[in-house]
Amino acid sequence: MKSPEYHFFICNSYRVSGDPQGVCNKKGATDLLQYMETEILDRGLDGAVSSTGCLKVCTKGPVMVLYPHGKWFGEVTEEKIDSILDALEDGGDTSEFEI
Ligand code: FES
Repeated sequence: MKSPEYHFFICNSYRVSGDPQGVCNKKGATDLLQYMETEILDRGLDGAVSSTGCLKVCTKGPVMVLYPHGKWFGEVTEEKIDSILDALEDGGDTSEFEI
């Protein structure tokens, strides 16, 4: 299986019970997951998006991780997603948005 070029993991605060009850969920992570899915499709990126449980940096929530690049982003918004994707499409320097 070929891995996507960009795999975004967005914390949606899932607990062991399956309930989303943490910081990232309360700050709109569910909407960010849908937004990212739409942006990947609209931009024609070789990308995927997955939701995760707590990534243990709740004070920076909503939190997003990009693999295989190993980049972490905090206080993610739709506007920040746009900027990150623009940067990736322009050559990959997303350092100003990383935590
Ligand atoms: S709830 Fe998202 S990092 Fe903890």
